[in-house]
Amino acid sequence: MNLKIEEAVKRLNDSELYSILFLKLYAEEPTKENLVIALAEFQRTLESDGSAPHDKWMNDEDSAALSISQQRGRELFLDKAKCFDCHFGPDFTGDEFRNIGTYDEKQYKDKGRFDETKDSNDLGKFKVPGLRNIALTAPYMHDGSLETLEEVIEYYSDPYMFVETPINMDSIMITPLRLTYHEKEDLVNFLHSLTDETRYKQR
Ligand code: HEC
Repeated sequence: MNLKIEEAVKRLNDSELYSILFLKLYAEEPTKENLVIALAEFQRTLESDGSAPHDKWMNDEDSAALSISQQRGRELFLDKAKCFDCHFGPDFTGDEFRNIGTYDEKQYKDKGRFDETKDSNDLGKFKVPGLRNIALTAPYMHDGSLETLEEVIEYYSDPYMFVETPINMDSIMITPLRLTYHEKEDLVNFLHSLTDETRYKQR
């Protein structure tokens, strides 16, 4: 996201897909003005209005709001898969900067937080994003390199399959989780339970 707005508008115009999407939404090609509107709309998806199945289940409004698979996914999220160590708080981010292993100096060159602070402890650290409405905001990660939630979970299951020699990776990520097929499925299903129902209705 660390991009000049003129360059962002140019890249959108160069993309056939985005040109079509902007035309559909705003009846014109991408411009500075409609990009600002689109970004504001995206930002609104990051906040919740409390209508997600997970909220209803947590607030004892509806004990059937989460499927059994989603409940298992929630347990994994909180415990074995360690997601909650970084994605905590009402919007599932503690607003910290952490390194999940996506910097290796060779193929993956974005130094993340380091570029701001010049502190070598910050090499490869990125802001932990919130996970509200996460099923609606593909692609994922700072560079959009992961297309689906399934791919994100594959990444967390074994980051070394994606980046062989990560630099300064968080100590809790060093041992790969090596999740089973069903555990991966449960985690993906759980992430879907964070979508506000009002968002589904809008679609
Ligand atoms: C060590 C801290 C840490 C742990 C543990 C962790 N995450 Fe993350 N997560 C991050 C950071 C930092 C990013 C952003 C990385 C980037 O932008 O490249 C991220 C990104 C994501 C994204 C993409 C969000 C987006 O909008 O692009 C999802 C989904 C996600 N994490 C889910 C999970 C799940 C599920 C788990 C557990 C299996 C988990 N995370 C464990 C720190 C963590």
